[in-house]
Amino acid sequence: MSNPPSDRKRPLRSARWFASGDMRGFAHRQRTQQMGLRREEFMDRPVIAIVNTWSEMSPCHIHLRDVAEAVKRGVLRAGGYPVELPALSVGEVMVKPTTMLYRNFLAMETEELLRSHPIDGAVLLGGCDKSTPGLLMGAISAGLPAIYCPAGPMANGQWRGTKTGAGTHTKKYWDELRAGTIGPADWLDLESRMTRSIGTCNTMGTASTMTGIVDAMGLTLPGASSIPAIDSGHRRMASLCGERIVAMVDEDLTPAKILTRDAFLNGVVAYMALGGSTNAAIHLVAMAGRAGVDLSLDDLAAAARRIPVCANLFPSGNALMEDFFFAGGLCALLAKLRDHLRPDCLTVTGRTLGENIADSVCHDDEIIRDPSNPVVPLARGATLALLRGNLCPDGAVMKSSAADPRLLSHTGRALVFDSNADMLAAIDDPDLDVDADSVIILRNGGPVGAPGMPEWGNLPIPKKLLARGVRDMVRISDARMSGTHYGACIVHAAPEAAVGGPLALVRTGDLIRLDAAAGRLDMLVDEAELQARRTAWTPPASPYERSYAALYRAHVTQAPQGCDFDFLAGTATVPEPPIY
Ligand code: FES
Repeated sequence: MSNPPSDRKRPLRSARWFASGDMRGFAHRQRTQQMGLRREEFMDRPVIAIVNTWSEMSPCHIHLRDVAEAVKRGVLRAGGYPVELPALSVGEVMVKPTTMLYRNFLAMETEELLRSHPIDGAVLLGGCDKSTPGLLMGAISAGLPAIYCPAGPMANGQWRGTKTGAGTHTKKYWDELRAGTIGPADWLDLESRMTRSIGTCNTMGTASTMTGIVDAMGLTLPGASSIPAIDSGHRRMASLCGERIVAMVDEDLTPAKILTRDAFLNGVVAYMALGGSTNAAIHLVAMAGRAGVDLSLDDLAAAARRIPVCANLFPSGNALMEDFFFAGGLCALLAKLRDHLRPDCLTVTGRTLGENIADSVCHDDEIIRDPSNPVVPLARGATLALLRGNLCPDGAVMKSSAADPRLLSHTGRALVFDSNADMLAAIDDPDLDVDADSVIILRNGGPVGAPGMPEWGNLPIPKKLLARGVRDMVRISDARMSGTHYGACIVHAAPEAAVGGPLALVRTGDLIRLDAAAGRLDMLVDEAELQARRTAWTPPASPYERSYAALYRAHVTQAPQGCDFDFLAGTATVPEPPIY
């Protein structure tokens, strides 16, 4: 039950709306009673926002209305007053040109929803890729107690006896279809069978990467990120989120008290051991920026050099999230990584991370590996390789653990495309001048150029090479790549081409050299020639002169800075709204 007023660490924020004796206080109480509530149901009780990204355009979140009901049960049981606030659902598959364009929109919406209403604490319902950083960036900036309730991954998939993972096998079978090893009837059959339940992608894509990271950072109930969406335990977890947030309001347990640099570094440990998505490199930096924590790509790369992939999950391994859950889930993984963690970090439970995982047990050492027996040895590849060089002086990243190791040291001739549309129109041309050693480059896919940095970075392998058995090539872009995908894809090249980064200067035929172990990516073109190209370069025209996309292009930062808006990053205080 919520504490009596005298035990609260500070007065309820919602009392500013409900407790005053003036005409405005009357109006707030009157309008709440208009909805059928008695005064006793909301006066002097923590008002808990359930920020819900449910949408019929987001299959990953389609169950969140039910989940919200479970959260409400917990809030009511603890003596709070739950209110559901709908928020933008950045469903990964349907939203075009890319959900990344709208992550900052969701962050702004979450922050402003919480600030502008009589809210004391929040349960955030999300899970599909950008919803996790979007909701949390907003909640961090709002500064109210908040707990993250992940949507949960979908059930295992299988097709004709083969385990199939969302995203990973879509891409794999698409290449097989183009290579002619499966037919149109097989492709049609796969369409209805691969994603067989509600929930987020069942591979270690961006969704499970981000929910796992924030779980390790102490922003969810322990292990909440691993519970499948269809499991009855998921609804019990949601109810407990509702109960716990009421206590967090009493304790004044805000994100600022949880999100220290050490907490972020715990998230980074989980990121690397999970073999997580390259997208997390952007989101973690953005979240740290909101929390006022100094976290850079170099911090992530340093952890990647120490911590191998231990979770045997697609695309680096060969199991799915339901397997991971049965094996013990994130807590069991963290327990095996104790030596790398900062166990004293405070979490939403009010206990430390070390206390939360103290009794965790692993039930399957093949799926949750010990760092001494990793899925991918560090010598073969890491979750995140940070590259710099004259193609990407501010950085580019690749998931070398999910690439053909043969390609991690490679020199090849560039094949350059100025746009995704140009590339798609040409890539299957039988006369395309390309071979297995070529380096395919796509530019103008960055935060400003696309805009929004779509997941174009898993550039397609030309059809004629697929037919010859080629399944991986070195590919470079300033776009992003889906966490469910794999291959020697170098993404987030910064500065991006559209703002004059060196990717804008490379030409078809230039030699490109990748040395992942040395962290280098260079075009072998002499500086005088590059200077001549730089002088001749003009920025590409953009059709986005109005709308949110125009705001985005004007204010988004580059990938190594997290792609937040320049006016939203940081911890500067925003005044509470005046009540009148
Ligand atoms: Fe929503 Fe993958 S599409 S989590």
